[in-house]
Amino acid sequence: MPSSGEARCSLGTVVVTGGGGGIGAAVSKFVARAGYAVIAVDIAPLGLDKLTADAKSEGLNICTVVGDTSEEQVNHDVFTAAADNGMLHGAVLCAGATIHKPFMETSLDNFMFTFRVNLLSTFLGLREAGLVLASQGKGGSLIAVSSINAMRPLPEQASYSAAKAGIESLVRSASEDLGPSRVRVNSLAPGGVNTPMNPIPDQRNTYAPHIALRRAAEPEDMCGTVEFLLSDKSRYITGATIVVDGGLMNHR
Ligand SMILES: NC(=O)c1ccc[n+]([C@@H]2O[C@H](COP(=O)([O-])OP(=O)(O)OC[C@H]3O[C@@H](n4cnc5c(N)ncnc54)[C@H](O)[C@@H]3O)[C@@H](O)[C@H]2O)c1
Repeated sequence: MPSSGEARCSLGTVVVTGGGGGIGAAVSKFVARAGYAVIAVDIAPLGLDKLTADAKSEGLNICTVVGDTSEEQVNHDVFTAAADNGMLHGAVLCAGATIHKPFMETSLDNFMFTFRVNLLSTFLGLREAGLVLASQGKGGSLIAVSSINAMRPLPEQASYSAAKAGIESLVRSASEDLGPSRVRVNSLAPGGVNTPMNPIPDQRNTYAPHIALRRAAEPEDMCGTVEFLLSDKSRYITGATIVVDGGLMNHR
């Protein structure tokens, strides 16, 4: 498996998919600072290179893997490596992508692309991580990143929104099957976050008046909730969706 860095740590290993992206990179660094070893996976090497450089300059325990999380073998290899690396503690499944297309112009390829990247990647990540955590027998915490789009529609986002709604359903089902093994499974639903997924600053600003807190989120605004969900402080929370949107959903 292509990787850079070593990821060993007493709190255990956390796999972060989409680790080179806006939320994934922020989460990787935050979780590493909290004392976990991190394996960050992304299909795009550029963001991972930046993450590796940041980790090196801060002395953070992050290793990176270039891979497509919608591929079964990639998930198997990553989570097996995480277990071999010591103890897998959990995963934060951030890999995602959207396509802006009017519903009637959404092609089969568009639909399948958003389902592969968002829903299939999440299914494979939850399943492979669940297998490892259940076999370790020490519980764990899995977090899938959905979106408020799962609950509130936006124009030209039908396939993305449906995939995110599918993620929340998968999370509830997985939480049932993994609960007896003390593996908790939750989703985090951001609103508007300033990342490459929302590349146009003017569009970000148009949302601000519709957000109770009057600003879009920064990727770092997701990190406290991730840390909470990974930690024992959330030990009785599973099958839940935690909305982290500054109040945006109330206005949509
Ligand atoms: N930015 C927002 O406003 C927002 C809102 C709600 C939910 N989200 C969700 O948050 C998550 C992170 O998004 P972000 O805002 O950081 O965007 P981003 O584009 O910065 O990050 C997404 C990352 O996923 C990676 N990726 C895409 N396809 C992949 C694949 N097949 N295999 C591995 N990696 C892949 C990309 O290379 C990218 O680095 C996504 O699931 C997104 O849907 C974002």
